[in-house]
Amino acid sequence: MQSMALTFHPKTLNKMSVYVRTLTINDIDKILELENTCFSEAERATPAKFRYRLTVCGELSHGLFTLSKPHPDTPKGVSDFQPKEILIAMISATKTTTPVVTEAAMRIPHDLLEKYGAEVPATAPVVSQPAQNSESAQTAADPQASTTAAVPDPKLVKESTPPPEGHIEHGETVCIHSLCVDPTYRQNGYSQVLLKDFCQRMKDAGLSKRIALICLKEKTGVYTKSQLFRYKGNSSVTYAGASWVDMVYEYTTPPKGRGAAARA
Ligand SMILES: CC(C)(COP(=O)(O)OP(=O)(O)OC[C@H]1O[C@@H](n2cnc3c(N)ncnc32)[C@H](O)[C@@H]1OP(=O)(O)O)[C@@H](O)C(=O)NCCC(=O)NCCS
Repeated sequence: MQSMALTFHPKTLNKMSVYVRTLTINDIDKILELENTCFSEAERATPAKFRYRLTVCGELSHGLFTLSKPHPDTPKGVSDFQPKEILIAMISATKTTTPVVTEAAMRIPHDLLEKYGAEVPATAPVVSQPAQNSESAQTAADPQASTTAAVPDPKLVKESTPPPEGHIEHGETVCIHSLCVDPTYRQNGYSQVLLKDFCQRMKDAGLSKRIALICLKEKTGVYTKSQLFRYKGNSSVTYAGASWVDMVYEYTTPPKGRGAAARA
C-alpha cells in the first residue's frame, strides 16, 4: 500500500484533509516523537523495536498524516512554500502465530537484538524449554524480563512450544502494538479513522485471520467503538507491570444466522 487521500470531517468545524500511508524507516524520528509524547516511559516501545518492526514488516505500520499549510499572510501564487508531512496518528504492528498478543510477540528476537541497537542481556535466555504456564514461559523466554530461568514445576509442564518471538511472516494474527494520536488532534475521531482503515486493509489483503491487541481495561472503548473488536478477557502479558486485557477482531467468524442454528 502506498497512500490514500481521505477528506475527513472531524467533530470540530475545521475540515482537514488527511491520508494514510505505510510508515518507513525514514519516518523514524516522527514516529519516536509521537510514541514518546503518547506513552509513559514504561509503556512506550524502544527505538530498537521500531527499527526492527519497520525493517522486517513495515507494511504493518500505518500513519495518518496531514500536510502543513502556508502562513495565512503568505501572498498567493508567489510562494515557494513546501508543505511538510505531519504525523497525526500511527499504528505499529507485527504478525504472530498465537491467537492473542504474547509478551514474546512484542519482543525483538534474541539473535537480532544487537542488529537493531537493543541492549543484549549478559545471560542468554532460555527459549527452547517447553512452556510451563504461559506467564512463566514468557518470563523464561524474555531476556529483558529476567536473566535467570525459573525452575519449571513438572505438574505445570504442558506439551507445547513457547510462543515465537517477534514478527512471524506466516502468522495469521496481526498484533497491534501501538495506536496513538498526537494530543493536538485528539477527540476528533482520528483513532477510529486510522483503526478502521487498518482493519479493512488487513482483512482485504487476505493474509491473516484476525487482529489482536492488548490494552488497559479503561481503554477498551477505543476498540469497541469501532464495532470490530471484542473483549477476550485478561491478557497473560505483564509488560510495564500493568494489567492488560485482550481485544480481538476476527475476520473469519461465521455470521450467526439460520444456517448456524440449523447446524447446531
Ligand atoms: C486513546 C487515543 C488513541 C484516542 O484517540 P482519539 O483520536 O482522541 O480518539 P477518538 O476521537 O477517535 O475517540 C473515539 C472513541 O474512543 C474512545 N476513547 C477515546 N479516548 C479514550 C480514552 N483516553 N480512554 C478511553 N476511551 C477513549 C471513546 O469511546 C471515543 O468515542 P466518543 O468520543 O464518541 O466517546 C488517544 O487518546 C491516545 O493516543 N492516547 C495515548 C495512547 C493510548 O492510550 N493509546 C491506546 C492504547 S490502548
